[in-house]
Amino acid sequence: MTRHFLRDDDLSPVEQGEVLTLAQQLVGDRFGHQPLAGPQTVAVIFDKTSTRTRISFAVGIAELGGVPLIIDAQTSQMGRGEPIADTARVLDRQVGAIVWRTSAQTRIEEMAAAARVPVINALTDEFHPCQILADLLTVRQHKGSTAGLKLAYLGDGANNMANSYLLGGVTAGMHVVIGSPSDYQPDTAVLAKAVDIAAGTGGSAAWTDDPLEAVDGADVVATDTWVSMGQEAEATEREAPFVPYAVTEQLLSKASADAIVLHCLPAYRGKEIEAAVIDGPQSVVWDEAENRLHAQKALLAWLLARNFSS
Ligand code: CP
Ligand code: NVA
Repeated sequence: MTRHFLRDDDLSPVEQGEVLTLAQQLVGDRFGHQPLAGPQTVAVIFDKTSTRTRISFAVGIAELGGVPLIIDAQTSQMGRGEPIADTARVLDRQVGAIVWRTSAQTRIEEMAAAARVPVINALTDEFHPCQILADLLTVRQHKGSTAGLKLAYLGDGANNMANSYLLGGVTAGMHVVIGSPSDYQPDTAVLAKAVDIAAGTGGSAAWTDDPLEAVDGADVVATDTWVSMGQEAEATEREAPFVPYAVTEQLLSKASADAIVLHCLPAYRGKEIEAAVIDGPQSVVWDEAENRLHAQKALLAWLLARNFSS
């Protein structure tokens, strides 16, 4: 069975820990681990725009000794409707792994079902699991560990980041609280799955529409844009309901005094986060952005080792 990483709970708690520990090793040893030497090629396909994901996968694949093949789907036959499964069959005879940023989760599931090489989710409408690995690595770096810490996510509780914080956070043993308007609350199936995972890790998962309750005593405060890619037409209606959930200095003062602040970026200062917060002393967003590199290298190395040995 080929192992893929399509959503956060594709890694068990033990496996997630292995990936994060390898990532920590790679931080101090950027070029010493080259499982893609040969070199093997890894395809990185984008249906949506990207800065961090594109850069970190390209740099990371090169540092692992491989060749990154960055594909803008609109300039490939995928953009003209070639079936996903046919694309998978063409790719998997030539590349060692497929990384894809797309819209519906069902699309990446279709790719994975047809591909004999690992498929990695580089963001879908439903999940952004590579980002959460980077975020958890950042928490480890700044807090020593993740287990037992409270992570508060404020903003759109129904988007990819909220889903991934729920699943990935509880897998790491964290207490994840989503604070969002009730019209933008987490998917019930994702929340239920997070509660289920949490029962085995000592973490917990909850939703509230009260931003103060969400952030109260939190060790980690996270947010994301109120308007995700693909939601641009809803930009106006996605403003007023979210204002109480903006991460301001005042809201942050209700968190633990040594709380760290995460944002996957790109950030919209004055919307979901105050400039004084993202540019302030509790913000670790630049470490977080760098950690995309280390976390994804570890994930690629871990998945490829699994697939070659199975
Ligand atoms: N955080 C993140 O995924 O950034 P990009 O959209 O720039 O890749
Ligand atoms: N929720 C955002 C994350 C961007 C990295 C989006 O999907 O646009």
